[in-house]
Amino acid sequence: MKWIEAASYEEMSKLAADLFKAQLKEHKQSVFGMATGGTPEGFYQELVASYQAGEISFAEAISFNLDEYIGVAPENKVSYHYYMDAHLFNHIDMKRENIHVPTGNVADVEKAATDYDAAIEAAGGIDMQLLGIGVNGHIGFNEPGSSFEVGTNIVELTESTREANKIYFDKPEDVPTHAITMGIKTIMQSRKIVLLISGASKQEAYDRLRSGEVTEDFPASALHNHPNVTVIYTGVK
Ligand code: PGA
Repeated sequence: MKWIEAASYEEMSKLAADLFKAQLKEHKQSVFGMATGGTPEGFYQELVASYQAGEISFAEAISFNLDEYIGVAPENKVSYHYYMDAHLFNHIDMKRENIHVPTGNVADVEKAATDYDAAIEAAGGIDMQLLGIGVNGHIGFNEPGSSFEVGTNIVELTESTREANKIYFDKPEDVPTHAITMGIKTIMQSRKIVLLISGASKQEAYDRLRSGEVTEDFPASALHNHPNVTVIYTGVK
């Protein structure tokens, strides 16, 4: 695991975008894993700015997002479909058919989960996966206790995750109770992983990841078993 301290949120975002841009320049058909949340907003701004400046093109790239709420329609502003369009996809040249976000509002979500892993495999696997980290150490929506051996699946969100995400909803009770998420097994199959950690609310998660302990009680610790992880962090001590 490679640790890079960034002097600011902007620098963290730029360093992460530089890794994705380098990957794209090396291989224009790259398959990217994308993440949502407050942390990567600056990262997406950097990618959009580079695209608009003519430095990069996503015309042949493919993307797979980590997760989506169950029971939330793609056009709903709190959905991760909506987030991704607003922050990235509406502003770049990635083909719509190459954009994948797990579907959380279909009758058969279990099938949607299995199909999602099959689609990632059919695309050749993920070359570079972006991750954030939850205050409880979750990656994607894989909450503490998640098996490291499970692929994309349906999970119940913990109270701490629902608490952290309520800022995006009108009422706290509107935060969904379940989500579809790439499993830790799916994430670990990515060839390269870039994890962003920003801000004092992540201090405990940062400390625990830094300790090196590997346990299913702390999902991000699975990453210690991955050969190519870069952690870019800021705002933690
Ligand atoms: P955040 O979410 O970037 O909004 O803090 C990270 C996560 O929960 O994975």
